Amino acid sequence: MEHNEHIIERYERAWIFFGLAMITVFIILIGYMVLTMGNTIPVSTGRIDATKVRTEGDFANPRVEQVGNEYVAYIQAFAFGYLPTEMKFKAGKKVTFYITSPDVQHSFQIANTNINVQVIPGEIAKVSYTFKQPGEYRIICNEYCGIGHANMISKLIVEP
Ligand code: CUA
Repeated sequence: MEHNEHIIERYERAWIFFGLAMITVFIILIGYMVLTMGNTIPVSTGRIDATKVRTEGDFANPRVEQVGNEYVAYIQAFAFGYLPTEMKFKAGKKVTFYITSPDVQHSFQIANTNINVQVIPGEIAKVSYTFKQPGEYRIICNEYCGIGHANMISKLIVEP
């Protein structure tokens, strides 16, 4: 009896150790990603009336602005596409994206980066990124949003 209890305790201890070790590994991985790839965890920065996204405020005029040595982009993700249709940035400069939707839920994923933003109608998502590699980046929606979902693609260009 005593012998069995001892064995159970040892297994338990091993599992507790394993659990803590995995948590430690995940924390280190997240820290490593933030340090090497930048913090690309999107945040919500407020809400606007989804029915006015197309007519009022920054998103009625989707655009890329150069502010000092950085860029700010106001993006509409709609069924089925993205506005502005063309975006250009210089490599090595920080880009802050603000994204919202006037209709249904979409996403804003930039291929070959770790940017993947869920876009909720009227909710303003914010994410920043510094493109290091010049080239063409595909933008894709990976949130099923209706009949045209599969064609909801766009691109952005990073110049050297
Ligand atoms: Cu938008 Cu799928």
